[in-house]
Amino acid sequence: MKVSVIGAGNVGATCAEYIALNRIASEVVILDIKENFAEGKALDLMQTATLNGFNTRITGSTNDYSKTAGSSVVVITSGIPRKPGMTREELIGINAGIVKTVTENVLKHSPEAIIIVVSNPMDTMTYLALKESKLPKNRIIGMGGILDSARFKCYLSMAMNAPASDIQGVVIGGHGDTTMIPLTRFATNNGVPASQQLSAEALKKVAADTMVGGATLTGMLGTSAWYAPGAAVAALVGSIINDQKKLFPCCVYLDGEYGQKDICLGVPVVIGRNGWEKIVDFNLNDEEKALFAKSADAVRSMNNVLSEMKSA
Ligand code: NAI
Ligand code: 2OP
Repeated sequence: MKVSVIGAGNVGATCAEYIALNRIASEVVILDIKENFAEGKALDLMQTATLNGFNTRITGSTNDYSKTAGSSVVVITSGIPRKPGMTREELIGINAGIVKTVTENVLKHSPEAIIIVVSNPMDTMTYLALKESKLPKNRIIGMGGILDSARFKCYLSMAMNAPASDIQGVVIGGHGDTTMIPLTRFATNNGVPASQQLSAEALKKVAADTMVGGATLTGMLGTSAWYAPGAAVAALVGSIINDQKKLFPCCVYLDGEYGQKDICLGVPVVIGRNGWEKIVDFNLNDEEKALFAKSADAVRSMNNVLSEMKSA
């Protein structure tokens, strides 16, 4: 199966690497607008093949979408991060232009592809890709919740001094510092509620650390993170390509589910060959429902910035 990754930057190249290392796809094409950049990343990655023992064929392309033709899955990581002095509107405007053009180009050559949106602000970019492409809703998936949940589980495992593989934890809502909702009530260490092993204060700190997980790394690295984001995308691609039916929190179009309509937001979904196949209801309590509604309000106002820019 063929996977294309648009944007050969930190997240795009790392995601290609994990797809190869985990033998998820037989072919990966990386595409970028920077001359020879994707080709260079692909060649470098291919030179790890004998060392790492994978057979995935990785190639690069400078903006030639014909090379991506026939992809089963396309990952969009192209975009720019917010720079000093840049308004949120300017960032949304630039990335929206990129995501729109990329989506159009991708679909010309891979009309059947499942599209994964990574570029920020991810919830709004997912909504934009869905509206612009007019694809069936199950074929557009925003990646954010898988990463946020991995960070949540990491902080839980450190606080509980337990192996990360024994930890369960899910983050729903928007992919933003104030919009994500780590569901502490459902977090467990091998089935034992985290609330039995951590004080309410410690659990609150884990949730707070999770919510600023991306910003913490941006402060340390000078740019946003790539290992965990790349691994999260690869896990999502794996569940699609291998029809694994994994239950992942992903940003998908809501049409009444979780009390929301006409918005893309993070909820638990079953991921398989057809993209997202089913939304699973978590039976949120009143407090969690209120947080979800607040998260939706914030994402909706970001979406409105986009529509106001279009109509201006
Ligand atoms: P990066 O700057 O390392 O890479 C972005 C790449 O996109 C660059 O190589 C650039 O040349 C390319 N690009 C720009 N316009 C393009 C176009 N029209 N066509 C093809 N390529 C184009 O950035 P990084 O760190 O890889 O992040 C990429 C995006 O992903 C950012 O918007 C970032 O905020 C977002 N992100 C989202 C996460 C999530 O969980 N949803 C996690 C981490 C990053
Ligand atoms: C992250 O969460 C910034 O979305 C990026 O690392």
